[in-house]
Amino acid sequence: MSAAIRIQNVRKRYGALEALAGVSLEIGEGEFFGLLGPNGAGKTTLISIIAGITRADSGRVAVLGHDVITDYRMSRKLLGVVPQELVFDPFFTVRETLRIQSGYFGLTRNDAWIDEVMFHLDLTNKANVNMRALSGGMKRRVLVAQALVHKPPVIVLDEPTAGVDVELRQTLWKFVRRLNQEGHTVVLTTHYLEEAEALCQRIGMLKAGRVVALDSTAALLARISGRQLLLTFREGHLPADLEPYAVDPEGAARARKVTLRLHEMANLEMILARCRTSGAVIEDVELQGADLEDVFVQIMQGASA
Ligand SMILES: Nc1ncnc2c1ncn2[C@@H]1O[C@H](COP(=O)(O)OP(=O)(O)OP(=O)(O)O)[C@@H](O)[C@H]1O
Ligand SMILES: [Mg+2]
Repeated sequence: MSAAIRIQNVRKRYGALEALAGVSLEIGEGEFFGLLGPNGAGKTTLISIIAGITRADSGRVAVLGHDVITDYRMSRKLLGVVPQELVFDPFFTVRETLRIQSGYFGLTRNDAWIDEVMFHLDLTNKANVNMRALSGGMKRRVLVAQALVHKPPVIVLDEPTAGVDVELRQTLWKFVRRLNQEGHTVVLTTHYLEEAEALCQRIGMLKAGRVVALDSTAALLARISGRQLLLTFREGHLPADLEPYAVDPEGAARARKVTLRLHEMANLEMILARCRTSGAVIEDVELQGADLEDVFVQIMQGASA
C-alpha cells in the first residue's frame, strides 16, 4: 500500500528552537487523520514541509510516493492545503481567485467544479465580490475552496474552522466528509477536539516537535480512562465488594449516587447483577465515555517536553 503522506524522521530548527525533533508518520490513502497538539507543537511547520513551502533540515516527506523536494511539481499537484494564515489578493473577486488558482494547476476550464465548490461552501452569492470585502470567516471559506480547485487526492486543512461560525463548520465538515468518502485522504489540525473526535479515524499528537501519541481515535479514547458508570440507587446501596470499582471508594457503600470505573464493558453486567442480588434497587444508570479532551490533557501532561 502506498502512503498518502509518508514522513520519515523530519527535523527542523529555527535557530536554537527545535520545531520538529525527528517526526515519522505515515498517513494511509483514504484516511481521515487528525494532527493535534498545543500551540507551537510544530503542526504548521510539518504541514509547510509537506506542502514544500518550508524545507526540513533532514528527513524525507513524500505525497503518494512523490518526494516533496525532488518531485515537487507532482507532489504539490496531488496536495490541497488550507493554510492557517489568511493570505489572499484583495483585488480579485472570489471567482477570479479560484480561476487563478486553477490556472496554477493548468486547469483552464474548471468553472463547473468551481461552482460546485462555491455552492458547498456557501460562497455562490459572493462569487463576484472582491476578496477585501469579505468577512474573516468568508475569506477562510475561499481558502478552503482554493485548496480544492484541482480536486487533489490528499487534502490538508490547518485549522480550517478557526473563527468560523457553527453553520459553516457543519457545512464544511459535511463537504469534507463527502470528499473523504469519495476516496480523498484528509489531514486535519484543529483545537476543537470534539471535531477531531467526531471526524478522524486516527489521530497523531505532537508536543514540542515530537509525536507523543499515534493511534485510532477509538483506541486513544479507550486507552486512557475507560468509561464511567453512574449509578443512582432507589433502595439500598453499593455492595461493599464493589467498592474497589468506585472512583471515590470513601463512603461509596453509603451514597445514593456513585460513580464507578469501567475498565471493560464486561464488568457492566457483573456490577448490575451483583447490585440486584444484594437487594439494592437501581433508579438510574448512566454511562459516560472519556472524551478526546480528557485524553489530550492526560497525554500532554504525561509527555515530557
Ligand atoms: N518562521 C519561523 N521562524 C522562527 N520560529 C518559527 C517559525 N515558524 C515557526 N516557528 C516556531 O516553531 C514552533 C512550531 O510552530 P508551529 O507554527 O509549527 O506550531 P503549531 O503547532 O502550528 O501551533 P499553533 O497551534 O499555534 O498553530 C513554534 O515555537 C514557533 O514559534
Ligand atoms: Mg499552526
